[in-house]
Amino acid sequence: MIKSLRGMNDILSKEESQRFTYFIDTATKVALRYGFHYIETPLLEETALFKRSVGESSDIVGKEMYQFEDKGGNDVCLRPEGTAGVVRAFIQNKLDRAGGTHRFFYHGPMFRYERPQKGRLREFHQFGVESFGVESVYEDAAMIMMIADILGELGIGYRLQLNSLGCKECMPPYRDNLVSFIESVENEICEDCQRRKSTNPIRVLDCKNEQCQSLYENAPKLINSLCESCESDFAKLKTILDANNIAYEIDTNLVRGLDYYSKTAFEFVSDNIGSQSAIAGGGRYDRLVEFLDGRPTPAVGFAMGIERLLELINMPQNSREGYFFGAMDDEAVDLVISLTQKKRKTDKASCDYRARNLKNHLKSADKVNARYCCVIGSNELENGTVWVKDLENRTEETVEISAL
Ligand code: HAM
Repeated sequence: MIKSLRGMNDILSKEESQRFTYFIDTATKVALRYGFHYIETPLLEETALFKRSVGESSDIVGKEMYQFEDKGGNDVCLRPEGTAGVVRAFIQNKLDRAGGTHRFFYHGPMFRYERPQKGRLREFHQFGVESFGVESVYEDAAMIMMIADILGELGIGYRLQLNSLGCKECMPPYRDNLVSFIESVENEICEDCQRRKSTNPIRVLDCKNEQCQSLYENAPKLINSLCESCESDFAKLKTILDANNIAYEIDTNLVRGLDYYSKTAFEFVSDNIGSQSAIAGGGRYDRLVEFLDGRPTPAVGFAMGIERLLELINMPQNSREGYFFGAMDDEAVDLVISLTQKKRKTDKASCDYRARNLKNHLKSADKVNARYCCVIGSNELENGTVWVKDLENRTEETVEISAL
């Protein structure tokens, strides 16, 4: 028997698919309210796009890409995340030259060849947004508040972790400082961190190794080395969040796993889903458009991990809805089909294609959670009527077909 690949799941059960579409509907509604519009970009892109944006030193590009040569000899890769493709589309369509503000949202599958475990898949789904052209830190706050609104509508609790990664002014001197510190403890840190020292030193800060973590407690903190502009933006961000009742924790070790961030970085975590606790993450990436050969354009965005959110969603009570039609005699089946078809123009409706007894039809109506069970037997067929049971109020009556 052929099975799906490891770390790649079907979304199949009614319960799970209802949660999935409920999430997409809710997040879409909120994103539209914030003035974002839907963008669709290809799942497959040139490998160079991710190398240059997510970064060669990141685990995603270094170890986790589904990369291959296509039949035309092109080096391509299944997207491990959504931002790079949206930025590519933004530049390719000359929106960087058009100026102004451009706000997009998307959802779809992403691919990372990670070690699968609970909450960590090789094919997973993200809902993300990207905003271009707004330098103001109010936009960073709007991103965070949009996530809070989506989670609020879904009844999902969270903790918000916040950091600033500085800019091209304050990051390089901090990095030099950090490298000197790493050199002072080089013999005691793990192999990964020794490698990170030369590839991307700030990534040592979120190393999961306990010994490394205890050593880095004494490491210099970027938050204490921010330049005036980054410092005042970060202070402003905190003020806006305070004023809008969004609680947060400052996490000076939050560096994110992708290289394109500057200034604001944030992560939403849940304490109710085990070790893979990040449910959303994002931040500002003011230099990425330029880095991918576009005109310098400030940008900020986030993505939410849909699979991790599914088990946390508080689903609304599923009330009975629509019609179920059934015939008790073969002669009534055609009529049942055409009545169902008519109802479907405006309401949810289903039917049985076979003549069955009343008890069976009532059972089927209950199974599909219909509000009304409508049955036609020989008497009803003769009189042009339908027997209707309201399964919510438990009342029944016989009505003219035209009155249905
Ligand atoms: P990210 O933090 O790599 O950011 O991913 C965002 C979210 O996707 C995570 O918080 C997590 O919920 C989910 N996720 C990541 N990897 C997996 C996995 N293997 N299995 C299940 N869920 C996963 C980004 O991807 C950035 N593009 C976000 C962004 C947009 N930044 C700016 N704009």
